[in-house]
Amino acid sequence: MRLLDAIDRKPLDRPPIWFMRQAGRYLPEYQALRSEYSFSEAVHNPAVAAEITLQPVRRFGLDAAIVFADIMTPLEALGIPIEFTPGPTLDPLPLEAIVELPDLDPESVSGVAETVAAVREALDPNVAVIGFAGAPFTLLVYLLEGGGSKTFAVARAELRRRPDLAEQALGRLAAAMQTYLGVQIGAGANVVQLFDSWVGLLPVDQFVTLAGPAADRSLASLPAPAIYFAPHGPHLLRYLETVQADVYGVDWRLPLDEAWLQIGVDTPIQGNLDPAVLLTDPETVRAATREVLGRAGDWPGHIFNLGHGILPTTSVENVEAMVAAVKEYR
Ligand code: CP3
Repeated sequence: MRLLDAIDRKPLDRPPIWFMRQAGRYLPEYQALRSEYSFSEAVHNPAVAAEITLQPVRRFGLDAAIVFADIMTPLEALGIPIEFTPGPTLDPLPLEAIVELPDLDPESVSGVAETVAAVREALDPNVAVIGFAGAPFTLLVYLLEGGGSKTFAVARAELRRRPDLAEQALGRLAAAMQTYLGVQIGAGANVVQLFDSWVGLLPVDQFVTLAGPAADRSLASLPAPAIYFAPHGPHLLRYLETVQADVYGVDWRLPLDEAWLQIGVDTPIQGNLDPAVLLTDPETVRAATREVLGRAGDWPGHIFNLGHGILPTTSVENVEAMVAAVKEYR
């Protein structure tokens, strides 16, 4: 599997390519299915979720499929009602309630396991299946705020006011996510990714003492390689080793080689084309893609990806140009 070979730092003719949010709204075939099923119905129907997972792999010939679900899906399985409008919306949960959350019963996420198994079954053996979860800090901010926010002021105030209770809450979420990732690996996921989408909000000390250790516990003793994605946080790159992962995903803010030097070039890296490039034209996309590939140079251990999720207004033609530029490399 090309993705696993890159993680093992084997020399390759070209890096593997997949991209975050590859299954979704920019794809006409996704929109067609979503006219029949709501987002939640699609996630909770393994046949539909597997089909959506496979759509971008079929269309673009990617090296990995990422399971169609959401970072909030396992929290629904813990009994928390969540709506997607389109972002997750819920009644805010205080720290006192989060520390009382039950352990995750693997049976409660058997639908996701079924999706993983169906995707693994349908895919070419060279294409990897990626399972995923939200990192404890990122989940905690959604729970405390009741959804997305510009400043996440409620969550950041709680970390300052009650760091001990926040640490316990992060620990509860870490245990649940470790179980959840284990279920996906058990069902056939070859690699897992932990999304810490909002961790870049934190100063270094809160990353090193709170968010990082909780992310680390989510990945402890998993029987498959793990990617830790911490976007919007160039200040955290030097401290990423707080989270023991096999690969670190980086956003587009720093050139790939500069980010890689900070992380350490002996550790595989994933990234980092700016998703906004895909809103331009095929020629610009090809040039920017080659720029990222050039930055990775001949170092083994690069997984080509975007620096964050693909934007919904992206054209299919530009995605094709990106994939072609990676496949033509060398
Ligand atoms: O990557 C993939 O193709 C797999 C599926 C996937 C979804 N969400 C489906 C989805 C993954 C990996 C996620 C992760 C996720 N969800 C993250 C972490 C990644 C990141 O972007 O930082 C976050 C922060 C969320 C929370 C979330 N869910 C938001 C903010 C939204 C709103 C809109 C959006 O797309 O950003 C969602 C809903 C959601 N999750 C959609 C999809 C395809 C859109 C649903 C729709 O309207 O069709």
